[in-house]
Amino acid sequence: MPEVLTIVTYPDPILRRRAEDIEEIDRSIRDIVAAMSETMYAHHGVGLAAPQVGVSKRIVVFSPTGEKKDEKVLINPMIIEHRGGMEAEEGCLSFPDIGGIVRRNSYVRILAYDLDGNDLEITATDFLARVLQHEIDHLDGTLFIDRMTPESRVRAREALKALEDAYKTP
Ligand code: CO
Repeated sequence: MPEVLTIVTYPDPILRRRAEDIEEIDRSIRDIVAAMSETMYAHHGVGLAAPQVGVSKRIVVFSPTGEKKDEKVLINPMIIEHRGGMEAEEGCLSFPDIGGIVRRNSYVRILAYDLDGNDLEITATDFLARVLQHEIDHLDGTLFIDRMTPESRVRAREALKALEDAYKTP
């Protein structure tokens, strides 16, 4: 059984780094993916990016339904087309108990490799488009608080400060 990993929380600096491209999908990458998957379900998430488990590599695991059968793995994902706009409430496993309204594109087209190294192209709208933009942002060190509406950002301010204080004083 793959292990459930600890989720890295804000403001750990790894969340701000640009994650590295995967050059070869080897055993170590498969092991990380298996553990990411286990960790995502353990936390009832619908998406998880590798930096969130302390691995600065360009890997995303997601399942829009939260079920294993709908899971997909994205290696080196890129958004190759995007349009439209939408706003909705978002959260992130790296920001416990914080939520806010985030503006995203309502349509994205994504190119990636799957775990076998095959090309994978996904077009997504609405909720899935939101999940994918959120997770791919993680690979570039961009966090959902960066894209929150000013009103949500103000509302989240104290909770963010609490996470920052907790990080400084372990
Ligand atoms: Co997140």
